[in-house]
Amino acid sequence: MRALIDRLCATRRLDFSSWKDLLSLVNTEAFSLTMLRARKCTQEIFKNAVYVRGIIECTNHCVNSCSYCGLQVENRALPRYRLPQERIVETWKTAYAAGLRTLVLQGGEDPYMTDEWLTTLIAQIKKDFPDCAITLSFGERSRESYQNLREAGADRYLLRHECASPILYRALHGKHQAFWRRIEALYTLRDLGYQTGCGMMIGVPGQSIEDLAEDMAFIQEFSPAMIGIGPFLPHHATVHREAPPGDLRMTLYVASLCRLLKPEILMPATTALRSLSPMGLRLGVQHGCNVVMPSLTPDAEKAHYSLYDRKCALAHSLTETLDSYAQELSSLGAHLSFVRGDARDSTYGVLNSR
Ligand code: 5AD
Repeated sequence: MRALIDRLCATRRLDFSSWKDLLSLVNTEAFSLTMLRARKCTQEIFKNAVYVRGIIECTNHCVNSCSYCGLQVENRALPRYRLPQERIVETWKTAYAAGLRTLVLQGGEDPYMTDEWLTTLIAQIKKDFPDCAITLSFGERSRESYQNLREAGADRYLLRHECASPILYRALHGKHQAFWRRIEALYTLRDLGYQTGCGMMIGVPGQSIEDLAEDMAFIQEFSPAMIGIGPFLPHHATVHREAPPGDLRMTLYVASLCRLLKPEILMPATTALRSLSPMGLRLGVQHGCNVVMPSLTPDAEKAHYSLYDRKCALAHSLTETLDSYAQELSSLGAHLSFVRGDARDSTYGVLNSR
């Protein structure tokens, strides 16, 4: 076990069967060793900074049928919303005044979010707040669309690959959602110069150790600038309502392995992780996470952005949230950082930031 972890740290790559071995033998020794190495590795590169990204969930309309997600088109009981551009800009203005410099705009795959709508919004935010980074997360779009959004000023894009094994991908998603299209979208985004993020859930129904090993092999190959990893959490309106949530230890273990695989990666202590455990932020940072993404979405709409049940932090103000994060981090010697925090990997570099 130690030999495998040593090899990962020395070469930053493993073959498929070694990934399988590492993932199937999560004993206490492996768990603590990867945690200590991951935290050390993060500190060597990022010191004790934990970057803050404000996320605005712009729309909860979605045309997709992801079986795990509460926003799936089949969920007709969910009240749907779209935030008008003026509210998004107003919301960001308040967060900017509080010091934030990265805005993540996220939403379901909503045909109402046309290129024209998004480019107008991006251009306005870049004009009013030129020192900010804009990250988009609106799912799969055409190359042309990604290019238009990039030209309008978007810097980064989050598109979790969700699952790198085609068979499980197919089982979890709607018929029109093709595995190859998702992977192609990720390569297109990177090709267009976006700092690109992928990621997956831990413990999604049907996921095996082999599937997780496929995820690690994909991350190794794709080399994303960012990665989002969180436990699966059930949603009452989906077929997986009775499924158990993803395992906390396994989620943290995979996060620390991702840090050791890609030392420079930007990796949030995700909302799902923080929803699974009240200590989620602290535990995440101890295992190599270095980003936190408070939701800026206005309260009424935030409650309806229900990917899963029991989502944490539904009713706190931004200042309260930031204070509680700072406090949770202080015992680790870590602190919040409000800088843009662009990817360091030379593939993306600060060259791409504007
Ligand atoms: N549990 C945890 N994470 C979820 N996501 C969607 N549904 C769930 C769930 N039930 C994640 C997906 C998606 C991201 C926005 O939220 O990975 O990419």
